[in-house]
Amino acid sequence: MTGACFDMPQLSVLIVGCGNIAGAFDLGRPASELPYTHAGAFKRDGRFSLDACVEPDEKRRLAFMDAWGISTGFSSIDDVADAGYHFDIISICSPTPCHAHDLETALSLKPKLIFCEKPVTTSVLETERLVEKCRKSNILLTVNYSRRFDPYIVKLKADIEAGRWGQLRSVVGIYNKGILNNGSHMLDLLHLLVGQIKIVKVGQPIQDFFPDDPTVPVWLETSQGIPVHIVSGHAGDFAIFELQLVFSLGVLTMEDGGMFWRERRTINSTTFKGYRMLDEGIRRAGEYPAAMSKAVDNIYRSITQGATLASTGESSLAAQKLCEQVKEFSITL
Ligand SMILES: NC(=O)c1ccc[n+]([C@@H]2O[C@H](COP(=O)([O-])OP(=O)(O)OC[C@H]3O[C@@H](n4cnc5c(N)ncnc54)[C@H](O)[C@@H]3O)[C@@H](O)[C@H]2O)c1
Repeated sequence: MTGACFDMPQLSVLIVGCGNIAGAFDLGRPASELPYTHAGAFKRDGRFSLDACVEPDEKRRLAFMDAWGISTGFSSIDDVADAGYHFDIISICSPTPCHAHDLETALSLKPKLIFCEKPVTTSVLETERLVEKCRKSNILLTVNYSRRFDPYIVKLKADIEAGRWGQLRSVVGIYNKGILNNGSHMLDLLHLLVGQIKIVKVGQPIQDFFPDDPTVPVWLETSQGIPVHIVSGHAGDFAIFELQLVFSLGVLTMEDGGMFWRERRTINSTTFKGYRMLDEGIRRAGEYPAAMSKAVDNIYRSITQGATLASTGESSLAAQKLCEQVKEFSITL
């Protein structure tokens, strides 16, 4: 299943699981807005052909095919394997407990690349096995730890490395809705921005959404001994995903998951002579809305030009290992 458009070959796509992140988050949004979903991003990009989808719920499958102009639908990925189709890219957007089976089956279909929703699977052992299997099969694996594709965050990483904010002193993060579900986003982002981190102490877990995935506060440290404190909110109250980075030259705060950034710089105090303080700062719109478009661009360039993937099976596994350690420590409390 391969199409052609704009006189260059399109890459064929199969989407597995037709819910929110597959496409529903973009339904009803103006076409001029940046897409938040797999279908929305592949469609808008123009270098991909949405050829088929898998969804057990027939009504949802037909609505998805209609909304995104997809000609072929299956109720299970096993049926795709039986029918002998081939795709360049397989997006796994099914519920997390289905990922291990869907990834395993996707591998048997021999795509060029699998774009898997996070977390890769529900267990480190399964993720480790499947990441290794992708590597051995020469099938690229990228995982939607979306902030790795966010241009603001890519620039921030370069700014931190170039010392544009001075020395990093400490980090505070706030999250809810599960250490693996959302905590893995936080720990993956921290790996990207501050490098390896190890657990110092774990706090009391709360069950705020998924029965098997508690939200756990954790105190970590970077390899330079910089403290990283991750605290929890309750998913029943409101969604929260924030990060505050304290530098010698100012404080940078990610709000609303990266939709906004508050930047405060140091100035001389006008009240207390000889003191330095933070200015009022500015609240800028972030570039999180561009993350999905950047992800599919990264996918296209990795397949056609060998570009480096911004988010890999290995980086996702590292975040998941840390999540599992946090969870194990919390069980012993
Ligand atoms: N990267 C992000 O920020 C982000 C955001 C939202 C969701 N996610 C991840 O995406 C995945 C899906 O989440 P969602 O919110 O879109 O869920 P959803 O419930 O909206 O959609 C999942 C869909 O998969 C279908 N499904 C169930 N079993 C299936 C199977 N065996 N094969 C194929 N389809 C099957 C369901 O019927 C449903 O339509 C989860 O792993 C979640 O963690 C990631």
